[in-house]
Amino acid sequence: MNSITKIFTSSIHPASPLQFFSRLTLSAIILAFCSLANAGKVTLDKSEWGIEGGKECISCHKKSSKGLATQWEESAHGKAGMNCLDCHQADIADDDAITHEGEVIATIVSPKDCGRCHVTEYEQQKGSVHANAAVLIQNRIPALENIGGLAIVAGGCDQCHGSVVKVKGDGTLDPKTWPNSGIGRINPDGSKGSCTSCHGRHLFSKAQARDPGACMRCHSGPDSPDREIYEASKHGMHFMAQRDKMNLDSDQWRAGIDYSAAPTCVTCHMGAAGKIKPTHDVGMRNAWKLNTPVSEKHYLVVFEDGDKLNLPVSREAPERGSKMTKLDGSMGTVKAVASPERRRQAMSSVCLECHSKAFAKNFMTQFDDVVELYNEKFGKPAQAIMQALYSEKKLTPLAFDEPLEFTYWELWHDEGARARHGAAMASPNHTWWEGIYEVGRNFYTKFLPQVREAAGEELGNALIKKHVTDNEHHQWLKQPGKGNPILGYGLGGQ
Ligand code: HEC
Ligand code: HEC
Ligand code: HEC
Ligand code: HEC
Ligand code: HEC
Ligand code: HEC
Ligand code: HEC
Ligand code: HEC
Repeated sequence: MNSITKIFTSSIHPASPLQFFSRLTLSAIILAFCSLANAGKVTLDKSEWGIEGGKECISCHKKSSKGLATQWEESAHGKAGMNCLDCHQADIADDDAITHEGEVIATIVSPKDCGRCHVTEYEQQKGSVHANAAVLIQNRIPALENIGGLAIVAGGCDQCHGSVVKVKGDGTLDPKTWPNSGIGRINPDGSKGSCTSCHGRHLFSKAQARDPGACMRCHSGPDSPDREIYEASKHGMHFMAQRDKMNLDSDQWRAGIDYSAAPTCVTCHMGAAGKIKPTHDVGMRNAWKLNTPVSEKHYLVVFEDGDKLNLPVSREAPERGSKMTKLDGSMGTVKAVASPERRRQAMSSVCLECHSKAFAKNFMTQFDDVVELYNEKFGKPAQAIMQALYSEKKLTPLAFDEPLEFTYWELWHDEGARARHGAAMASPNHTWWEGIYEVGRNFYTKFLPQVREAAGEELGNALIKKHVTDNEHHQWLKQPGKGNPILGYGLGGQ
């Protein structure tokens, strides 16, 4: 298998060799994130913003780009006396610095720039799955780009995941890599992400970011259909009917206290609830990885410098203080490790602000059961068969040059992800009709016939027997004395 094929059939979140074992408690983990003083508070002193050179910007920009100047004027920033240059200021040594009307500015205001005043949010966002969204897909782009083309990377992937922003010699930005407000964009100053992904500029409102609309732009469609799922769930139904009771512009926004009509995406993945503090790391409360050929639960490893790593439970958890390889390949010192159970506990405690313990626990059991069913009945057998076909050279190493590869990809990436997301977020339609039903239909009527075609009769039958006919979940196919009509050949156990 070459590297593209390997990435194509295996889970994307890489694991690294580990030396030691131990775990910290949830409270330690939560402390690790929340012990930063001034949570939610602006850390730079008021005397340091509203700089003189920035007062000139506004008169011109009220003419040349009036819309954005008005938004700035109405924003918390405008009201607090901050001006354009407080954000757009740059050092002449910066790659993307330009001289503009007598001032040195940069067009990009990176998370690091925002972090001058918003330390907590910056620190939390910095090591999150979101911040790594561009890094994580780098080795996947070639396989998908073959289907599309270079223009699709800039106009598609990068708009959601983020580009590696390139600066031309004169300090202006390369149109192949900008504009986009991708969630893991790699900025000229090395910082990752774009705070405007959720906080549209130049209003930078927290109310707007609490609205599910802030997430839906990226979290919709075949592989991450959270928009559709939310809208089809009871939570979405209540949100739509009672939006005016959601208190979205409240200073604090605690589930069950400041609002109770319905949870939004932010409530469950970022919001304050009970003892759980708000966080700009959306991945902390997730136990599973749902967008992989086979789902696995994951530890969350937190490094001294704030970087994080999701580590599948099939690997050993590292000990606090030990060294291990980080996502970017450099070595880091482990500060804390949260087990999947702890992450689940954090998520469940959000539910408890509006539901009973038994309700939340039973719901999670129903969800986990769907993930297990998907894994054991379809995910693992399909993955094992694909791996065998690659190692037997029945498929070329190149991804997406054979129909079976499209079928397999969609099995886990589209309908397979849809089923698992549906079960996680309570949309029965996506769990069954648009989820497992389609997985089953495509597995039996497309995947298996194409496997036989690619493998030939003998190997095809052997693989299907080993991974399907002998698998307890597929026993219903064993009708005595008959071939299987769906498949058009004998799968029977006689
Ligand atoms: C004399 C008028 C004038 C002043 C003063 C001025 N600008 Fe501009 N600025 C412009 C015009 C005109 C453009 C180009 C607009 C366009 O491309 O549509 C521009 C473009 C920009 C851009 C976009 C650059 C790009 O490559 O996309 C930024 C950012 C910007 N100005 C920020 C500032 C800041 C910050 C200040 C204050 C330090 C400032 N401007 C002062 C007139 C001005
Ligand atoms: C709170 C920080 C902040 C303030 C204050 C601010 N900007 Fe921006 N501005 C940004 C960010 C962030 C971007 C997005 C750049 C990127 O990352 O792609 C941006 C982008 C821009 C752009 C280019 C993008 C576009 O939509 O055309 C212009 C022009 C601009 N700002 C002008 C201004 C002007 C003029 C002011 C003052 C009226 C101002 N900005 C105030 C943060 C700020
Ligand atoms: C020079 C300091 C400074 C910088 C730089 C800065 N901010 Fe702010 N920010 C403030 C201040 C001051 C407030 C208002 C605080 C208040 O009202 O309590 C604020 C408020 C906010 C709010 C809350 C708005 C609301 O609806 O109440 C958000 C969100 C925010 N900033 C995001 C950003 C982002 C994103 C950036 C970078 C693009 C940024 N800020 C850059 C100082 C800054
Ligand atoms: C509409 C926004 C959007 C576009 C366009 C997009 N992605 Fe994604 N992608 C996402 C989101 C959201 C996730 C997170 C899925 C999850 O974990 O639920 C994701 C996940 C992924 C993953 C991780 C696991 C998986 O689902 O495969 C890879 C790899 C990936 N994308 C690659 C790409 C590449 C390469 C492109 C362009 C060819 C692309 N994406 C285009 C939004 C997008
Ligand atoms: C994934 C979406 C998302 C991204 C990306 C994002 N934010 Fe936020 N931000 C939110 C939400 C949602 C809230 C409101 C949280 C709450 O109170 O429940 C918020 C609130 C804030 C606040 C107000 C905090 C307070 O307590 O008043 C600031 C400041 C802020 N964000 C800054 C940033 C900065 C800086 C970045 C980039 C490093 C950033 N945000 C990136 C979604 C996002
Ligand atoms: C600009 C696009 C974009 C926006 C806006 C966005 N996301 Fe994401 N999100 C992504 C991408 C891309 C990934 C996949 C990242 C990866 O796997 O590294 C992702 C991953 C996630 C994950 C999965 C974390 C995990 O454990 O793997 C969650 C949960 C999530 N986002 C929630 C949210 C919420 C809540 C919001 C809105 C407040 C939001 N996102 C806004 C693009 C976006
Ligand atoms: C009622 C709480 C709740 C709401 C509301 C909610 N989610 Fe989720 N979400 C969950 C749970 C629970 C999981 C599965 C957690 C796990 O892995 O254990 C999940 C999983 C996810 C994942 C999958 C991450 C992965 O493993 O690949 C993404 C992405 C996501 N949610 C985004 C969103 C977005 C976007 C919205 C709003 C449109 C939203 N969620 C609304 C609770 C919620
Ligand atoms: C802010 C309050 C709030 C939070 C937090 C919340 N929910 Fe809900 N949930 C509701 C409301 C309101 C309903 C609708 C009840 C009804 O209409 O009968 C609901 C309904 C549901 C339903 C549908 C039940 C049915 O009767 O069909 C499920 C499942 C569910 N919630 C699971 C969860 C899970 C799991 C979590 C945590 C990850 C969670 N909820 C967090 C308020 C909340």
